[in-house]
Amino acid sequence: MHQFQPYPVDLLEFNPFTKIGNDWLIITSGDEQKANGMTASWGGLGVLWGKNVAFIFVRESRYTKEFIDNSSTFSCTFFDKKYKNDLKYFGIVSGRQEDKFKTSGLNLDYKDGTPYVDEGNFVVLCKKMAAVPIEEAHFLDPEIKEKWYSGDDTDNFHTMYIGEITDVLAR
Ligand SMILES: Cc1cc2nc3c(=O)[nH]c(=O)nc-3n(C[C@H](O)[C@H](O)[C@H](O)COP(=O)(O)O)c2cc1C
Repeated sequence: MHQFQPYPVDLLEFNPFTKIGNDWLIITSGDEQKANGMTASWGGLGVLWGKNVAFIFVRESRYTKEFIDNSSTFSCTFFDKKYKNDLKYFGIVSGRQEDKFKTSGLNLDYKDGTPYVDEGNFVVLCKKMAAVPIEEAHFLDPEIKEKWYSGDDTDNFHTMYIGEITDVLAR
């Protein structure tokens, strides 16, 4: 088990485009009995409703969505580049098929009952503030539907979860 320290948000030098879009993260949710995680490369950190927030986008089909919906919290764990293969695995295999934390080298750790990934080097823990289903009627650019919600994903829309950042941990 690695030692994490609380990290003050005002000292953060975090480039969301590289850290989220290129390096990716694992979203985890659940409890100490059962949890699941999946890779994400969409999302952001910012300020909303007077709070520091993280926002993530999770498709209807993801097993992780069930855990987020049944929990009041979720976390985002960021990694050193050497874990890229684990991130690929967490982004291809569903927890419905196999317990990804049993079959990979990644392990769950907990902060006040919220799961995160122990091998990460930076963790953002969130309390859910809103779950916003993204619907076709909201798209102003027709390319969005064509590019992201066609074929097998015709009805597999994302829900945006906005979470108040309760803790940031680093090691
Ligand atoms: C690089 C990468 C980024 C991904 N980003 C997202 C994302 O932001 N939102 C999402 O719903 N799925 C995303 N996925 C797909 C899920 O990680 C994938 O479907 C995963 O197997 C879901 O696991 P689960 O069913 O155990 O939740 C991404 C996959 C990869 C490889």
